[in-house]
Amino acid sequence: MCGIFGYVGKKNNAAEIVLEGLKRLEYRGYDSWGVVVEDKACLRVERKAGKIGEAKVSLPSSHVGLGHTRWATHGGVTVQNSHPHLDCTETIALVHNGIVENFSELKKELKEKHRFTSETDTEVIVHLLEDLIQTKNFSEAMREAFKKLIGLNAVVSLKGNQLVVAKNGSPIVLGFGEGEFFVSSDASAILPYTKNVAFLEDNQAAVLDASGIKVFNLSTGVEIEPKTQKLDWEPESAELGNFPHFMVKEIYEQPKILEGIIKTSSRQVEELADFIRSSYGAFLVGCGTAAHAALTGQYLFSRIAKRHVNFNVGSEFGYLEHFLTPRSLVVALSQSGETIDIIDSIKLALEKGAKVASLTNVLGSTLYRMSDYKILLGAGPEKSVCATKSFTAKIALLFLIASQLSGTGKEGVRILEQTVREIKRLLDKETVEKIEKLAEKIKDKNHIYIVGRGLSYPVSMEAALKIKEVSYIHAEGFPGGELKHGVIALIEPETPCLVFAPNDETYGGIISGAMEMKARGGHIIGVSFKDADVFDDWIKVEDTGDGTAITNSIVGQLLAYFLAVKRKCDPDKPRNLAKSVTVK
Ligand code: F6R
Repeated sequence: MCGIFGYVGKKNNAAEIVLEGLKRLEYRGYDSWGVVVEDKACLRVERKAGKIGEAKVSLPSSHVGLGHTRWATHGGVTVQNSHPHLDCTETIALVHNGIVENFSELKKELKEKHRFTSETDTEVIVHLLEDLIQTKNFSEAMREAFKKLIGLNAVVSLKGNQLVVAKNGSPIVLGFGEGEFFVSSDASAILPYTKNVAFLEDNQAAVLDASGIKVFNLSTGVEIEPKTQKLDWEPESAELGNFPHFMVKEIYEQPKILEGIIKTSSRQVEELADFIRSSYGAFLVGCGTAAHAALTGQYLFSRIAKRHVNFNVGSEFGYLEHFLTPRSLVVALSQSGETIDIIDSIKLALEKGAKVASLTNVLGSTLYRMSDYKILLGAGPEKSVCATKSFTAKIALLFLIASQLSGTGKEGVRILEQTVREIKRLLDKETVEKIEKLAEKIKDKNHIYIVGRGLSYPVSMEAALKIKEVSYIHAEGFPGGELKHGVIALIEPETPCLVFAPNDETYGGIISGAMEMKARGGHIIGVSFKDADVFDDWIKVEDTGDGTAITNSIVGQLLAYFLAVKRKCDPDKPRNLAKSVTVK
C-alpha cells in the first residue's frame, strides 16, 4: 500500500535520494507518486499519476526531502490527489498512510477558511496543521493535529529543514546514518544507507533534522530514547542481481532460506512447541498466502503432532472470538507483520487475555512488537508482491514445530534437509525448462483447475492464488474430493487440470479424480513422484514425506511465474495488488 520516504542530512540531492527510496517502495503497490523538497524557505513539489518507471525529478538541490507512493482510497488516481499535499501558505507539505475516518467532519469545519485542492482525507491534516502552527511549534502542532484524527494513520510533514512524524497505525521506520537521517514505511528502502534503525511505536512522534532524530510520546510530548536495532539484511538482498524479476529471484532463494531455518531455529521451535503444548485451544491465522500456510499448518499439526490447531483467515477470525479464553494461543502468520486483518485479530486475542505468537519476516513490524512470542522467518526482504519464499519459510517452521511437538524433532530436520536437496534439483535446468514449456502450452487458456487432497489441498489453493495474481488466468484450487460435488461441471476438452499426487494416503483418491477430469477431456498435468497413465504432462517431484508440500508449492510458483512472463504480465507488480495490506 502507500509508501513514505523522507531524507534530511549532509547531502544536497535530497530529491534524488527520495525518488530512489520511492522506487524501493514500489513493490508495495501504488498508482501515483510525488516528491517535495525545501528550497530557500519555499517548497518545490513534483507529483505524477502512474508509475515512477524511469522518471527523474527536476527539483532544486536540497538537504531535506519527502516523498510518497499513493494507493488510492479517498479520491481517484489523479495528480491532485497524489501526495505530498500542501497547506494554503505552501510552506507545509504532508504525506500520509492510513485512513482518516472523521475526515468529512473535519473538512466541513476547515473548508470555511482553507482552499482544498484534492478529494483526499489527507488534505485535512495539512490544513489542521496550518491552523495549529499559528500558536505552536511544528512538532507540537503536529501532535495536536494528529490527536484530532480518528483511525489508524502514519503522517510525515516537512516544514523548513525539519521532518515531523506521528503515527498510531501504519509502520514507520527511522534510519540513523552518518550525518543523515531517514524516515520510511519500510526498512528495506533505508538499507542502502544504514542498517541502524528504530521502529516508531504507535502513539509516538519523531522530529528529524540535520542534527539527528528525537522521538516523543505523542500524547504527552515527553521525549523518549529511541530503541535502535541493527538490520541483519544485506543491501543486495533487496536488489535484483542477475534475475529478471524479484519473483523468480525469491523462488531461487528458497533452499538457502530453509537451510538457514534448519541451522538457526531449533531453540525457537522448541519454545513455540512448548507454548502450543501448554495452550488450551491454539489458532493459526493468516491472510492470502499466509492463510494457505496456516491451513497447511493445521494439516501438519494433525498428521504429525496429533493435535488440533484451528485455522482461520484473518478477516474472519473476529467472528470466532467467542472461542478465545486466557488459555488460548493465537499463532499469527504474516510476512509483513502489518496486515490489518492480522493486527486486528491479535488485538482481539490480547483483549481476551489470550497469548499471541507470531511468525513474521519483518523485525520490528507491528505484529512482531505486539506478540508475546515471535519467530522471524529470516527470508530477507520479499520484494515481489506475490509471496513465495515467505510461504515456504512459514511451512518449514510449522513442520519443525509440529515435529518437535510429537517428539520427532530430529526426524523433522532430516526430512527438511532432504526437501532442500529436492528443491535444488527442481530448480536445476531440466525441471524448470519443463515447467516453462508447460506454461507455453497452456498460457492462452482461460481457466486452470488445481486439485489436491489432505496436505496438498492448501498447496492447490496456493498454486491457484499465485497463477491468478501474476498471470490473471482464472485458477481455482480445491480439494480433490469436491470435484464430483460441482466443479467437474466446468471441465471441458483441453481444460488444464493440475493434479498434486504425492506419495501419501491421498494418492489413490487424487488419481481417481484425475481420471474423472480426463474422461471429460481435461488436460491432466500430474505433479507426482511417479508417472501415471492418466497424466498428459508430468512434473516429477521426488517423495520427501510431508516436505513434499514445500516442493509441490515451488512447482506452482514456477508455473505461475512463467505464465505471467509468457502473457507479458509483470510478475512483480500485479495490477490492483499491494504488498502489505494496511487498510480494511
Ligand atoms: C499472495 C500474497 C498475499 C499475502 C497477504 C498477507 O501472493 O502475497 O496474499 O500473502 O496479503 O500478507 P502478509 O503475509 O504480509 O500478512
